[in-house]
Amino acid sequence: MAVGEASHGDVQSPAGDVPAPGLAPDSRPGHPARPARPVRPPWRDFLRVHRLFGSSVLEGLTFIHRHYGPFVRTRLPLQLYFVAAPACIEEILVKKADSFRKDRTSRLLSRIVGNGLLVNEGDSWRRQRRLLQPAFHNRQLQSYAAVMVGAIERASATWQAGQVRNVHEDMMGVTMNIVAETLFGADVSADAGHLGRIISDLMEEFGRIMGLTARFQPPAWVPTPANRRLRASARKVDKVILNIIEARRRTQDGPEQDDLLSLLIRARDEDGGSMTDAQVRDEAVTLFLAGHETTALVLTYALYLLATHPECQARLTDELGRVLGGRAPGLGDLESLKYTDAVVLESMRLYPPAWGMAREALTEVEIGGYQFAKGAEFVMSPWVVHRDPTNFADPEAFKPERWDGDFAQRLPRFAYFPFGGGPRVCIGNRFAMMEAKLVLAVAIQRFHFEVAPETEVTLFPSVTLRPRHGIQLRLAARKSTQSR
Ligand code: HEM
Repeated sequence: MAVGEASHGDVQSPAGDVPAPGLAPDSRPGHPARPARPVRPPWRDFLRVHRLFGSSVLEGLTFIHRHYGPFVRTRLPLQLYFVAAPACIEEILVKKADSFRKDRTSRLLSRIVGNGLLVNEGDSWRRQRRLLQPAFHNRQLQSYAAVMVGAIERASATWQAGQVRNVHEDMMGVTMNIVAETLFGADVSADAGHLGRIISDLMEEFGRIMGLTARFQPPAWVPTPANRRLRASARKVDKVILNIIEARRRTQDGPEQDDLLSLLIRARDEDGGSMTDAQVRDEAVTLFLAGHETTALVLTYALYLLATHPECQARLTDELGRVLGGRAPGLGDLESLKYTDAVVLESMRLYPPAWGMAREALTEVEIGGYQFAKGAEFVMSPWVVHRDPTNFADPEAFKPERWDGDFAQRLPRFAYFPFGGGPRVCIGNRFAMMEAKLVLAVAIQRFHFEVAPETEVTLFPSVTLRPRHGIQLRLAARKSTQSR
Protein backbone atom coordinates (compact mmCIF):
# COMPACT_ATOMS: atom_id res chain seq x y z
CA MET A 1 0.00 0.00 0.00
CA ALA A 2 1.32 3.44 -0.81
CA VAL A 3 1.55 5.71 2.18
CA GLY A 4 -0.51 8.36 0.42
CA GLU A 5 -3.53 6.02 0.20
CA ALA A 6 -4.03 5.94 3.93
CA SER A 7 -6.73 7.98 5.56
CA HIS A 8 -5.67 10.69 7.96
CA GLY A 9 -8.44 10.66 10.52
CA ASP A 10 -8.99 13.63 12.76
CA VAL A 11 -5.50 15.00 13.20
CA GLN A 12 -5.52 18.70 12.56
CA SER A 13 -3.03 19.91 10.01
CA PRO A 14 -1.73 23.47 10.21
CA ALA A 15 -3.81 25.66 7.92
CA GLY A 16 -2.91 25.29 4.26
CA ASP A 17 -0.18 22.78 5.00
CA VAL A 18 -0.48 19.62 2.94
CA PRO A 19 2.65 17.55 3.39
CA ALA A 20 3.75 14.99 0.87
CA PRO A 21 3.66 11.32 1.84
CA GLY A 22 6.66 9.92 3.66
CA LEU A 23 9.28 12.25 5.02
CA ALA A 24 8.36 15.72 3.93
CA PRO A 25 11.15 18.26 4.09
CA ASP A 26 10.06 21.26 6.09
CA SER A 27 11.84 24.55 6.08
CA ARG A 28 10.44 25.66 9.44
CA PRO A 29 13.05 25.69 12.20
CA GLY A 30 12.82 22.73 14.54
CA HIS A 31 11.47 20.36 11.91
CA PRO A 32 14.29 19.62 9.50
CA ALA A 33 12.62 16.48 8.17
CA ARG A 34 9.05 16.55 9.33
CA PRO A 35 7.18 13.29 8.84
CA ALA A 36 3.96 13.39 6.95
CA ARG A 37 0.87 13.68 9.12
CA PRO A 38 0.09 10.49 11.02
CA VAL A 39 -1.03 7.83 8.61
CA ARG A 40 -3.83 5.43 9.41
CA PRO A 41 -3.57 1.94 7.92
CA PRO A 42 -6.62 1.37 5.70
CA TRP A 43 -9.42 -0.82 7.06
CA ARG A 44 -8.56 -3.59 4.62
CA ASP A 45 -5.25 -4.04 6.49
CA PHE A 46 -6.95 -4.01 9.89
CA LEU A 47 -7.09 -7.79 10.36
CA ARG A 48 -3.53 -8.28 9.16
CA VAL A 49 -2.13 -5.67 11.54
CA HIS A 50 -4.29 -6.97 14.37
CA ARG A 51 -3.16 -10.56 13.81
CA LEU A 52 0.50 -9.52 13.66
CA PHE A 53 0.25 -7.65 16.94
CA GLY A 54 -1.54 -10.63 18.45
CA SER A 55 1.24 -13.05 17.54
CA SER A 56 4.23 -10.76 18.07
CA VAL A 57 4.12 -7.16 19.16
CA LEU A 58 7.66 -6.61 17.79
CA GLU A 59 6.65 -7.87 14.35
CA GLY A 60 3.52 -5.75 14.50
CA LEU A 61 5.51 -2.62 15.33
CA THR A 62 8.07 -3.34 12.62
CA PHE A 63 5.36 -4.02 10.04
CA ILE A 64 3.51 -0.78 10.58
CA HIS A 65 6.76 1.19 10.48
CA ARG A 66 7.90 -0.44 7.22
CA HIS A 67 4.47 -0.20 5.56
CA TYR A 68 3.05 3.08 6.72
CA GLY A 69 6.04 5.21 7.76
CA PRO A 70 7.41 6.93 10.84
CA PHE A 71 4.17 8.37 12.24
CA VAL A 72 1.23 5.98 12.31
CA ARG A 73 -2.17 6.18 13.88
CA THR A 74 -3.92 2.90 14.56
CA ARG A 75 -7.01 1.44 16.09
CA LEU A 76 -6.04 -1.93 17.45
CA PRO A 77 -8.78 -1.32 18.71
CA LEU A 78 -7.07 1.35 20.81
CA GLN A 79 -6.23 4.63 19.18
CA LEU A 80 -2.50 5.06 19.50
CA TYR A 81 0.14 7.02 17.62
CA PHE A 82 3.30 5.09 16.77
CA VAL A 83 6.20 7.49 16.45
CA ALA A 84 9.48 6.42 14.87
CA ALA A 85 10.72 9.81 13.63
CA PRO A 86 13.62 10.86 15.90
CA ALA A 87 12.66 14.57 15.76
CA CYS A 88 9.15 13.78 17.01
CA ILE A 89 10.49 11.46 19.73
CA GLU A 90 12.70 14.31 20.90
CA GLU A 91 9.68 16.61 21.01
CA ILE A 92 7.75 14.15 23.16
CA LEU A 93 10.52 13.13 25.54
CA VAL A 94 12.47 16.37 25.80
CA LYS A 95 11.13 19.55 24.26
CA LYS A 96 7.51 19.12 25.34
CA ALA A 97 8.05 16.70 28.22
CA ASP A 98 5.89 18.87 30.50
CA SER A 99 2.87 18.22 28.29
CA PHE A 100 3.03 14.47 28.92
CA ARG A 101 2.75 11.86 31.60
CA LYS A 102 3.57 8.17 31.48
CA ASP A 103 1.01 6.05 29.67
CA ARG A 104 -1.48 3.55 30.98
CA THR A 105 0.84 0.52 30.76
CA SER A 106 3.58 2.29 32.71
CA ARG A 107 0.99 3.27 35.30
CA LEU A 108 0.02 -0.40 35.63
CA LEU A 109 3.59 -0.94 36.83
CA SER A 110 2.60 0.78 40.06
CA ARG A 111 1.03 -2.56 41.00
CA ILE A 112 4.61 -3.74 41.45
CA VAL A 113 6.70 -0.68 42.23
CA GLY A 114 4.08 1.42 44.05
CA ASN A 115 4.84 5.09 43.62
CA GLY A 116 8.54 4.61 42.87
CA LEU A 117 10.51 6.91 40.57
CA LEU A 118 9.60 4.97 37.42
CA VAL A 119 5.87 5.77 37.70
CA ASN A 120 5.74 8.78 40.01
CA GLU A 121 4.73 12.13 38.46
CA GLY A 122 4.78 15.89 39.10
CA ASP A 123 6.32 17.50 42.18
CA SER A 124 6.56 14.24 44.07
CA TRP A 125 8.61 12.73 41.18
CA ARG A 126 10.89 15.82 41.04
CA ARG A 127 11.56 15.64 44.78
CA GLN A 128 12.33 11.90 44.69
CA ARG A 129 14.56 12.25 41.60
CA ARG A 130 16.58 14.99 43.36
CA LEU A 131 16.88 12.77 46.39
CA LEU A 132 18.04 9.69 44.52
CA GLN A 133 20.41 11.46 42.13
CA PRO A 134 23.45 11.60 44.50
CA ALA A 135 23.64 7.79 44.51
CA PHE A 136 24.54 8.02 40.80
CA HIS A 137 27.15 10.79 41.02
CA ASN A 138 30.71 10.14 39.86
CA ARG A 139 32.15 9.63 43.31
CA GLN A 140 29.56 6.99 44.11
CA LEU A 141 29.96 5.29 40.73
CA GLN A 142 33.69 4.99 41.35
CA SER A 143 33.06 3.09 44.55
CA TYR A 144 30.78 0.64 42.71
CA ALA A 145 33.36 -0.59 40.16
CA ALA A 146 35.09 -3.02 42.52
CA VAL A 147 31.73 -4.51 43.58
CA MET A 148 30.79 -5.04 39.93
CA VAL A 149 34.05 -6.81 39.09
CA GLY A 150 33.90 -8.82 42.33
CA ALA A 151 30.38 -10.08 41.56
CA ILE A 152 31.26 -11.49 38.12
CA GLU A 153 34.57 -12.88 39.42
CA ARG A 154 32.76 -14.82 42.16
CA ALA A 155 30.06 -16.09 39.81
CA SER A 156 32.43 -17.12 37.01
CA ALA A 157 34.71 -18.90 39.50
CA THR A 158 31.97 -21.54 39.76
CA TRP A 159 31.62 -21.98 35.99
CA GLN A 160 33.52 -24.68 34.12
CA ALA A 161 34.71 -25.04 30.56
CA GLY A 162 32.50 -27.49 28.66
CA GLN A 163 29.34 -26.53 30.53
CA VAL A 164 26.24 -25.37 28.68
CA ARG A 165 24.80 -22.61 30.86
CA ASN A 166 21.70 -20.45 30.84
CA VAL A 167 23.53 -17.14 30.59
CA HIS A 168 20.35 -15.16 31.25
CA GLU A 169 19.99 -16.80 34.66
CA ASP A 170 23.70 -16.26 35.34
CA MET A 171 23.62 -12.59 34.38
CA MET A 172 20.45 -12.00 36.43
CA GLY A 173 22.26 -13.42 39.46
CA VAL A 174 25.34 -11.26 38.88
CA THR A 175 23.44 -7.98 38.32
CA MET A 176 21.08 -8.71 41.22
CA ASN A 177 24.02 -9.07 43.57
CA ILE A 178 25.57 -5.89 42.21
CA VAL A 179 22.47 -3.77 42.73
CA ALA A 180 21.85 -5.24 46.19
CA GLU A 181 25.40 -4.60 47.32
CA THR A 182 25.93 -1.17 45.74
CA LEU A 183 22.56 0.35 46.49
CA PHE A 184 21.46 -1.51 49.62
CA GLY A 185 24.74 -2.71 51.09
CA ALA A 186 23.12 -6.15 51.30
CA ASP A 187 24.12 -9.61 50.20
CA VAL A 188 21.27 -11.39 48.42
CA SER A 189 23.34 -14.18 46.88
CA ALA A 190 21.59 -16.77 49.05
CA ASP A 191 18.19 -15.57 47.76
CA ALA A 192 19.28 -14.86 44.18
CA GLY A 193 17.89 -17.99 42.52
CA HIS A 194 14.59 -17.76 44.39
CA LEU A 195 14.26 -14.04 43.68
CA GLY A 196 15.12 -14.59 40.02
CA ARG A 197 12.21 -17.01 39.68
CA ILE A 198 9.78 -14.64 41.42
CA ILE A 199 10.82 -11.83 39.11
CA SER A 200 10.41 -14.06 36.04
CA ASP A 201 6.87 -14.90 37.21
CA LEU A 202 6.20 -11.22 37.78
CA MET A 203 7.36 -10.28 34.28
CA GLU A 204 5.44 -13.16 32.71
CA GLU A 205 2.26 -12.08 34.45
CA PHE A 206 2.83 -8.45 33.58
CA GLY A 207 3.52 -9.37 29.95
CA ARG A 208 0.00 -10.78 29.78
CA ILE A 209 -1.80 -7.72 31.06
CA MET A 210 0.25 -4.92 29.51
CA GLY A 211 0.30 -3.32 26.08
CA LEU A 212 -2.76 -3.23 23.98
CA THR A 213 -4.96 -4.86 26.60
CA ALA A 214 -3.84 -2.45 29.36
CA ARG A 215 -6.92 -0.28 28.92
CA PHE A 216 -9.23 -3.19 29.59
CA GLN A 217 -7.57 -4.41 32.75
CA PRO A 218 -9.79 -4.44 35.80
CA PRO A 219 -8.38 -2.34 38.65
CA ALA A 220 -5.83 -3.94 40.96
CA TRP A 221 -8.38 -4.50 43.76
CA VAL A 222 -10.52 -6.82 41.59
CA PRO A 223 -9.43 -10.36 42.56
CA THR A 224 -8.99 -11.72 39.02
CA PRO A 225 -6.57 -14.69 38.80
CA ALA A 226 -4.03 -12.45 37.02
CA ASN A 227 -4.28 -9.73 39.69
CA ARG A 228 -3.95 -12.31 42.45
CA ARG A 229 -0.87 -13.89 40.88
CA LEU A 230 0.71 -10.50 40.26
CA ARG A 231 0.06 -9.40 43.83
CA ALA A 232 1.46 -12.65 45.26
CA SER A 233 4.73 -12.25 43.30
CA ALA A 234 4.99 -8.54 44.14
CA ARG A 235 4.53 -9.37 47.85
CA LYS A 236 7.41 -11.84 47.72
CA VAL A 237 9.76 -9.21 46.25
CA ASP A 238 8.48 -6.75 48.88
CA LYS A 239 9.30 -9.18 51.64
CA VAL A 240 12.94 -9.44 50.61
CA ILE A 241 13.25 -5.65 50.26
CA LEU A 242 11.44 -4.94 53.54
CA ASN A 243 13.76 -7.36 55.37
CA ILE A 244 16.75 -5.45 54.00
CA ILE A 245 15.18 -2.10 55.03
CA GLU A 246 14.34 -3.36 58.52
CA ALA A 247 17.83 -4.73 59.06
CA ARG A 248 19.23 -1.37 58.00
CA ARG A 249 16.95 0.65 60.27
CA ARG A 250 18.16 -1.51 63.16
CA THR A 251 21.80 -0.68 62.40
CA GLN A 252 21.15 2.97 61.57
CA ASP A 253 22.66 4.10 64.88
CA GLY A 254 25.89 2.24 64.09
CA PRO A 255 28.65 3.45 61.75
CA GLU A 256 27.23 5.66 58.99
CA GLN A 257 26.75 3.80 55.73
CA ASP A 258 27.03 5.40 52.37
CA ASP A 259 24.68 3.42 50.17
CA LEU A 260 21.41 4.50 48.60
CA LEU A 261 19.21 2.80 51.15
CA SER A 262 20.82 4.73 54.02
CA LEU A 263 20.39 7.87 51.98
CA LEU A 264 16.68 7.16 51.51
CA ILE A 265 16.18 6.39 55.18
CA ARG A 266 18.08 9.49 56.32
CA ALA A 267 16.60 11.80 53.68
CA ARG A 268 14.71 14.82 54.93
CA ASP A 269 12.60 17.18 52.86
CA GLU A 270 12.45 20.97 53.34
CA ASP A 271 10.05 20.59 56.28
CA GLY A 272 12.37 18.12 57.98
CA GLY A 273 9.96 15.24 57.33
CA SER A 274 11.46 11.88 56.44
CA MET A 275 10.32 9.54 53.73
CA THR A 276 7.55 7.23 54.82
CA ASP A 277 8.31 3.52 55.04
CA ALA A 278 6.03 3.04 52.05
CA GLN A 279 7.98 5.53 49.89
CA VAL A 280 11.33 4.02 50.92
CA ARG A 281 9.96 0.62 50.00
CA ASP A 282 8.65 1.86 46.63
CA GLU A 283 11.98 3.45 45.67
CA ALA A 284 13.92 0.43 46.86
CA VAL A 285 11.77 -2.04 44.89
CA THR A 286 11.96 0.23 41.81
CA LEU A 287 15.74 0.45 41.94
CA PHE A 288 16.09 -3.22 42.70
CA LEU A 289 13.98 -4.25 39.69
CA ALA A 290 14.96 -1.48 37.24
CA GLY A 291 18.57 -1.74 38.36
CA HIS A 292 19.28 -5.35 37.48
CA GLU A 293 16.74 -6.77 34.99
CA THR A 294 17.76 -4.47 32.16
CA THR A 295 21.53 -4.72 32.56
CA ALA A 296 21.27 -8.51 32.82
CA LEU A 297 19.52 -8.46 29.43
CA VAL A 298 22.20 -6.32 27.79
CA LEU A 299 24.83 -8.80 29.00
CA THR A 300 22.79 -11.85 27.98
CA TYR A 301 22.25 -10.61 24.42
CA ALA A 302 25.86 -9.38 24.17
CA LEU A 303 27.14 -12.87 25.08
CA TYR A 304 24.71 -14.44 22.62
CA LEU A 305 25.74 -12.08 19.81
CA LEU A 306 29.43 -12.68 20.54
CA ALA A 307 28.86 -16.45 20.52
CA THR A 308 27.14 -16.19 17.13
CA HIS A 309 29.85 -13.81 15.80
CA PRO A 310 33.17 -15.43 16.79
CA GLU A 311 35.11 -12.87 14.76
CA CYS A 312 33.73 -10.10 17.01
CA GLN A 313 34.50 -12.15 20.10
CA ALA A 314 38.10 -12.54 18.85
CA ARG A 315 38.43 -8.78 18.35
CA LEU A 316 37.05 -8.15 21.83
CA THR A 317 39.43 -10.72 23.35
CA ASP A 318 42.31 -8.98 21.56
CA GLU A 319 41.34 -5.60 22.99
CA LEU A 320 41.00 -6.99 26.52
CA GLY A 321 44.39 -8.69 26.23
CA ARG A 322 46.04 -5.54 24.89
CA VAL A 323 44.54 -3.12 27.45
CA LEU A 324 44.36 -5.35 30.54
CA GLY A 325 47.04 -7.96 29.88
CA GLY A 326 45.14 -10.50 31.97
CA ARG A 327 44.42 -8.35 35.04
CA ALA A 328 40.93 -7.42 36.22
CA PRO A 329 39.44 -4.28 34.64
CA GLY A 330 38.85 -1.10 36.65
CA LEU A 331 36.97 2.09 36.04
CA GLY A 332 40.10 3.77 34.67
CA ASP A 333 40.33 1.18 31.86
CA LEU A 334 36.90 1.89 30.38
CA GLU A 335 38.15 4.86 28.36
CA SER A 336 40.56 2.52 26.51
CA LEU A 337 38.07 -0.32 26.02
CA LYS A 338 36.54 1.17 22.86
CA TYR A 339 35.50 -2.09 21.23
CA THR A 340 33.95 -3.33 24.50
CA ASP A 341 31.90 -0.14 24.49
CA ALA A 342 30.89 -0.72 20.85
CA VAL A 343 29.78 -4.30 21.62
CA VAL A 344 27.53 -3.04 24.41
CA LEU A 345 26.08 -0.23 22.26
CA GLU A 346 25.45 -2.57 19.34
CA SER A 347 23.84 -5.21 21.57
CA MET A 348 21.45 -2.57 22.96
CA ARG A 349 20.74 -1.40 19.43
CA LEU A 350 19.57 -4.84 18.31
CA TYR A 351 18.03 -5.94 21.61
CA PRO A 352 17.04 -2.81 23.55
CA PRO A 353 15.97 -4.04 27.02
CA ALA A 354 13.43 -1.20 27.19
CA TRP A 355 11.88 -2.02 23.81
CA GLY A 356 9.00 0.45 24.07
CA MET A 357 8.08 3.63 25.90
CA ALA A 358 4.87 5.58 25.79
CA ARG A 359 3.41 8.89 26.89
CA GLU A 360 -0.07 10.34 27.24
CA ALA A 361 -0.73 14.01 26.44
CA LEU A 362 -1.83 16.03 29.49
CA THR A 363 -2.93 18.94 27.35
CA GLU A 364 -3.50 19.65 23.68
CA VAL A 365 -0.05 19.41 22.11
CA GLU A 366 1.70 19.94 18.77
CA ILE A 367 4.02 17.17 17.60
CA GLY A 368 5.69 17.13 14.20
CA GLY A 369 3.69 20.23 13.33
CA TYR A 370 0.30 18.61 14.04
CA GLN A 371 -2.12 19.28 16.85
CA PHE A 372 -3.18 16.40 19.11
CA ALA A 373 -5.92 16.35 21.69
CA LYS A 374 -5.40 15.90 25.43
CA GLY A 375 -5.28 12.17 26.19
CA ALA A 376 -3.57 11.20 22.88
CA GLU A 377 -1.14 8.30 23.46
CA PHE A 378 2.22 8.06 21.70
CA VAL A 379 4.27 4.86 21.52
CA MET A 380 8.02 5.01 20.77
CA SER A 381 9.95 1.82 20.26
CA PRO A 382 13.75 1.62 20.33
CA TRP A 383 13.33 -1.85 18.77
CA VAL A 384 11.85 -0.23 15.64
CA VAL A 385 13.91 2.98 15.56
CA HIS A 386 17.22 1.17 16.17
CA ARG A 387 16.54 -1.04 13.13
CA ASP A 388 15.62 1.79 10.79
CA PRO A 389 17.80 1.55 7.66
CA THR A 390 17.66 5.36 7.34
CA ASN A 391 20.17 5.63 10.16
CA PHE A 392 21.74 2.16 10.39
CA ALA A 393 23.10 0.52 7.24
CA ASP A 394 22.44 -3.23 7.20
CA PRO A 395 20.30 -2.71 10.29
CA GLU A 396 19.68 -6.35 11.24
CA ALA A 397 23.42 -7.17 11.31
CA PHE A 398 25.53 -7.20 14.47
CA LYS A 399 28.41 -4.87 13.60
CA PRO A 400 30.06 -3.30 16.65
CA GLU A 401 32.53 -1.58 14.32
CA ARG A 402 29.75 0.69 13.06
CA TRP A 403 30.29 2.63 16.33
CA ASP A 404 33.93 3.42 15.39
CA GLY A 405 34.96 7.07 15.24
CA ASP A 406 32.24 9.69 15.55
CA PHE A 407 29.32 7.50 14.37
CA ALA A 408 27.35 8.13 17.58
CA GLN A 409 27.79 11.92 17.28
CA ARG A 410 26.65 11.86 13.66
CA LEU A 411 23.41 10.04 14.41
CA PRO A 412 20.32 12.23 14.66
CA ARG A 413 19.30 12.69 18.30
CA PHE A 414 16.87 9.91 19.29
CA ALA A 415 17.79 7.63 16.40
CA TYR A 416 19.35 5.62 19.26
CA PHE A 417 17.75 5.91 22.71
CA PRO A 418 18.11 2.75 24.79
CA PHE A 419 17.91 4.83 28.00
CA GLY A 420 15.08 7.13 26.89
CA GLY A 421 15.77 10.85 27.17
CA GLY A 422 14.77 14.20 28.61
CA PRO A 423 13.94 14.73 32.27
CA ARG A 424 12.88 11.09 32.69
CA VAL A 425 16.00 9.63 31.15
CA CYS A 426 17.19 6.49 32.96
CA ILE A 427 18.76 7.59 36.25
CA GLY A 428 21.01 4.52 36.14
CA ASN A 429 22.35 4.92 32.58
CA ARG A 430 25.99 5.52 33.56
CA PHE A 431 25.81 2.88 36.28
CA ALA A 432 24.46 0.41 33.68
CA MET A 433 27.04 1.19 30.99
CA MET A 434 29.90 0.85 33.46
CA GLU A 435 28.47 -2.38 34.85
CA ALA A 436 27.83 -3.91 31.42
CA LYS A 437 31.39 -3.20 30.25
CA LEU A 438 33.12 -4.38 33.43
CA VAL A 439 31.08 -7.59 33.70
CA LEU A 440 31.41 -8.37 29.99
CA ALA A 441 35.17 -7.79 30.12
CA VAL A 442 35.68 -10.26 32.99
CA ALA A 443 33.34 -12.89 31.48
CA ILE A 444 35.14 -12.75 28.12
CA GLN A 445 38.59 -12.72 29.76
CA ARG A 446 37.73 -15.97 31.49
CA PHE A 447 35.72 -17.97 28.95
CA HIS A 448 35.03 -18.31 25.27
CA PHE A 449 31.27 -18.39 24.63
CA GLU A 450 29.95 -20.70 21.90
CA VAL A 451 26.66 -21.67 20.38
CA ALA A 452 25.40 -25.10 21.53
CA PRO A 453 22.71 -27.32 20.00
CA GLU A 454 20.42 -26.03 22.78
CA THR A 455 20.99 -22.38 21.84
CA GLU A 456 17.79 -20.71 20.76
CA VAL A 457 16.24 -17.32 21.37
CA THR A 458 12.51 -16.75 21.69
CA LEU A 459 11.83 -13.15 22.56
CA PHE A 460 9.23 -12.32 25.16
CA PRO A 461 8.55 -8.58 25.27
CA SER A 462 7.19 -7.89 28.75
CA VAL A 463 8.16 -4.67 30.56
CA THR A 464 11.62 -5.57 29.27
CA LEU A 465 12.72 -7.62 26.27
CA ARG A 466 13.36 -11.01 27.86
CA PRO A 467 14.36 -14.31 26.26
CA ARG A 468 11.37 -16.52 27.08
CA HIS A 469 13.39 -19.64 27.87
CA GLY A 470 16.71 -18.03 28.75
CA ILE A 471 19.71 -18.45 26.43
CA GLN A 472 21.92 -21.52 26.60
CA LEU A 473 25.58 -21.09 25.62
CA ARG A 474 28.58 -23.41 25.84
CA LEU A 475 31.64 -22.25 27.75
CA ALA A 476 35.10 -23.07 26.44
CA ALA A 477 38.43 -22.38 28.12
CA ARG A 478 40.39 -19.28 27.12
CA LYS A 479 43.91 -20.18 26.24
CA SER A 480 45.89 -16.98 26.38
CA THR A 481 44.25 -14.33 28.58
CA GLN A 482 43.31 -16.04 31.83
CA SER A 483 42.84 -13.36 34.49
CA ARG A 484 42.72 -15.72 37.43
C1 HEM B 1 21.07 -1.23 30.28
C2 HEM B 1 20.36 -1.05 31.34
C3 HEM B 1 19.19 -0.11 31.42
C4 HEM B 1 18.32 0.28 30.45
C5 HEM B 1 18.30 -0.14 28.98
C6 HEM B 1 17.39 1.20 31.07
C7 HEM B 1 16.38 1.86 30.39
C8 HEM B 1 15.57 2.83 30.95
C9 HEM B 1 14.65 3.65 30.22
C10 HEM B 1 14.39 3.58 28.72
C11 HEM B 1 14.04 4.49 31.09
C12 HEM B 1 13.02 5.58 30.75
C13 HEM B 1 11.63 5.02 30.60
C14 HEM B 1 10.65 6.07 30.11
O1 HEM B 1 11.05 7.16 29.71
O2 HEM B 1 9.45 5.77 30.08
C15 HEM B 1 14.58 4.18 32.40
C16 HEM B 1 14.19 4.81 33.56
C17 HEM B 1 14.68 4.46 34.80
N1 HEM B 1 15.72 3.59 35.07
FE1 HEM B 1 16.77 2.54 33.74
N2 HEM B 1 17.70 1.32 32.39
C18 HEM B 1 18.80 0.55 32.65
C19 HEM B 1 19.46 0.43 33.85
C20 HEM B 1 19.08 1.00 35.02
C21 HEM B 1 19.78 0.91 36.28
C22 HEM B 1 21.10 0.18 36.47
C23 HEM B 1 19.03 1.57 37.21
C24 HEM B 1 19.28 1.79 38.67
C25 HEM B 1 20.30 1.34 39.33
C26 HEM B 1 17.86 2.10 36.53
C27 HEM B 1 16.84 2.81 37.12
C28 HEM B 1 15.89 3.53 36.43
C29 HEM B 1 14.91 4.39 37.08
C30 HEM B 1 14.74 4.62 38.57
C31 HEM B 1 14.16 4.99 36.05
C32 HEM B 1 13.04 6.02 36.21
C33 HEM B 1 13.65 7.40 36.08
C34 HEM B 1 12.63 8.54 36.18
O3 HEM B 1 11.53 8.41 35.65
O4 HEM B 1 12.99 9.58 36.75
N3 HEM B 1 17.93 1.75 35.20
N4 HEM B 1 15.52 3.18 32.29
